[in-house]
Amino acid sequence: MSAYIASRRQFLRRSLATASLPFIPHLAFGECPEDVRTAWYRAAKFGMFIHWGPYSLASVEASWPIMTPKPGGISEAEYVALHKRFNPVNYDPDSFIDLARAAGQQYMVFTTKHHDGFCMFDSAYTDYKITNTPYGKDIVKQLADACARRSMPLGLYYSPPDLHHPGFRDTSRPASETWHGQPERPEWPTYLQYMQLQLTELLTRYGDVKVIWFDGLDHQEKYDGRRVLDMIRTLQPATLVNDRIGVPGDFVTPEQFIPKVIPTKGMRAHGPGADLEKGSPLSAPRQADFQLWETCMTINDTWAYNAHDHHYKSAQDLIRALVEVVSRGGNFLLNVGPQPDGTIQAEFQERLRRVGDWLTVNGESIYGTTFGPIQGNAGFRTTAKDNVLFLHVFDWPSASLTITGVKPKVVSARLLSNNQRLVFQQSDSGLQITLPPQAPDKDVSVIALRML
Ligand code: GLC
Repeated sequence: MSAYIASRRQFLRRSLATASLPFIPHLAFGECPEDVRTAWYRAAKFGMFIHWGPYSLASVEASWPIMTPKPGGISEAEYVALHKRFNPVNYDPDSFIDLARAAGQQYMVFTTKHHDGFCMFDSAYTDYKITNTPYGKDIVKQLADACARRSMPLGLYYSPPDLHHPGFRDTSRPASETWHGQPERPEWPTYLQYMQLQLTELLTRYGDVKVIWFDGLDHQEKYDGRRVLDMIRTLQPATLVNDRIGVPGDFVTPEQFIPKVIPTKGMRAHGPGADLEKGSPLSAPRQADFQLWETCMTINDTWAYNAHDHHYKSAQDLIRALVEVVSRGGNFLLNVGPQPDGTIQAEFQERLRRVGDWLTVNGESIYGTTFGPIQGNAGFRTTAKDNVLFLHVFDWPSASLTITGVKPKVVSARLLSNNQRLVFQQSDSGLQITLPPQAPDKDVSVIALRML
């Protein structure tokens, strides 16, 4: 590592340590104003999603093989028995945090319970859980303790669909027939009660829960989301909640795609013809209309560990996806599926570290920024912070770059990769920046324009 990168890394670490710990004033029970609750999250921009459970043993997707079985695939009985062999002896929560830090990720979201209903925490209300495996220890607790010790904000994914609970569905029938849940059965309230008890466990035994990340799939109104949200706000007023439990939460969650527009309040994020998949971001909205959002995405094509899925996005794809997301004001929650032994595969590690190296040099153009004022240009993206506009150049022109739409007077232009000052001219016809012939960064080169 060059001395320049090392000193940048130190600088970034110091500034992030303060940026990610917003001051939370003393609050009355259940109270936490939205801008206070979301401050750390708005600045964080990049998080690690972790999908992990006994399903990692079979190289199959989490839960879906029993919801929508494929001929020749794993049977429901085989899937449900996997936990009897689950023994991730090499699990080390610190290694997850080390990797997230190396990648420049500022928070983590961990699957405490996926649709299959298996609990990675020691819930008192089920036997289908991590402490009843050969491994025998509470995985969520270890991660929560390590995150608290190392000031890594931790979010908990919790699936409202639960194929294992007899109140959720008639478990004597195949999961493939009843996985949508059966709210019409008299047993349904026992399931809502179970959710409430488990969420209480998660929100009272695992320290600060920065996010509850629900994954409600279809007909989310059946979960009585209003009641759930009130309960979360009472137990931990600062916890953020996403938009998948039938009531609007703190942020919307486009999945496996980057919205074409900058999301504004009231837009539909999910389902066929969702607003976020249409249109083009020709102009930036007013801050007051902006809807907080987060794209979650896989590095290959599966959420769970899968030894056969080699369809990896390149480090450059991931860096550009991060820039694209942040240029529209969003957060990027990038997934890893740990292996059955508890370690994260080399292909993910290499890519994440490359993204981290890029962020070490260019992080000031990402963290703490908001969507840029110039949208809809194929060759570059913009982000903004205070009086600095960051130009993220995807297609490097050989001699100069002309941009229109920069109204304030520009006082300096600087390349983040080497701190080189660039010559520029500003006139009514636009801002013309003289560039070195080669892109200084092969992934994305960033120019910081300081305005008066
Ligand atoms: C989908 C899938 C689930 C995954 C989630 C992440 O909703 O059902 O497997 O956990 O996406 O966003």
